[in-house]
Amino acid sequence: MTTATTTRPQGATIWLTGLPSSGKTTVARALAGRLRSEGHRVEVLDGDEIRRFLSAGLGFSREDRNTNVQRIGLVAEILARNGILAVVPVIAPYADSREAVRKRHATSDTPYLEVHVATPVEVCRERDVKGLYARQAAGQLKGLTGVDDPYEPPVDPDLVLETRHRTPVESVASVHAVLAARGLV
Ligand SMILES: Nc1ncnc2c1ncn2[C@@H]1O[C@H](COP(=O)(O)OP(=O)(O)OP(=O)(O)O)[C@@H](O)[C@H]1O
Ligand SMILES: [Mg+2]
Repeated sequence: MTTATTTRPQGATIWLTGLPSSGKTTVARALAGRLRSEGHRVEVLDGDEIRRFLSAGLGFSREDRNTNVQRIGLVAEILARNGILAVVPVIAPYADSREAVRKRHATSDTPYLEVHVATPVEVCRERDVKGLYARQAAGQLKGLTGVDDPYEPPVDPDLVLETRHRTPVESVASVHAVLAARGLV
């Protein structure tokens, strides 16, 4: 009798953390495009979209931000455990929240990569894709991450992207290289 061996593709979660307008969504979409073109199954769990359904009703207090991150972490881990590359461009400002997500992945032995999209706040303020920095400066918004709300930068991320000095395509190549080095792509 022969034993059938089934090989399933290994998934992973790739979490892109960084300030508003740092480039998380831009890099995530480009990365997802490249990975899909290579034949991988990919899901992008973007903070903005998630807040419209999975986290509808949550605000931006420390507690709600943590709840948001834990919910996304749960979904990402389930996807990744089942062979999907889950790309997560979500600010996730608190180190303990991110650590809990990392532990959740470790518990099921699911690969997890933390990527710090390390764009300085001055550059983010210039990009200001959603006009949040301008609204905060005009006193129309309170609690903007990195300005008047905390952002705890990762101490030991798997990768740091200095988007100031690299194009999105170069950033994607860096993430891809880490995935390749771990045998995930
Ligand atoms: N090298 C670069 N890498 C990434 N984005 C860049 C780069 N240079 C310029 N940009 C621009 O910076 C902006 C980043 O916006 P993006 O929506 O990706 O940020 P974000 O981190 O997802 O913000 P948010 O937390 O508000 O969703 C885009 O307009 C993008 O075109
Ligand atoms: Mg975004």
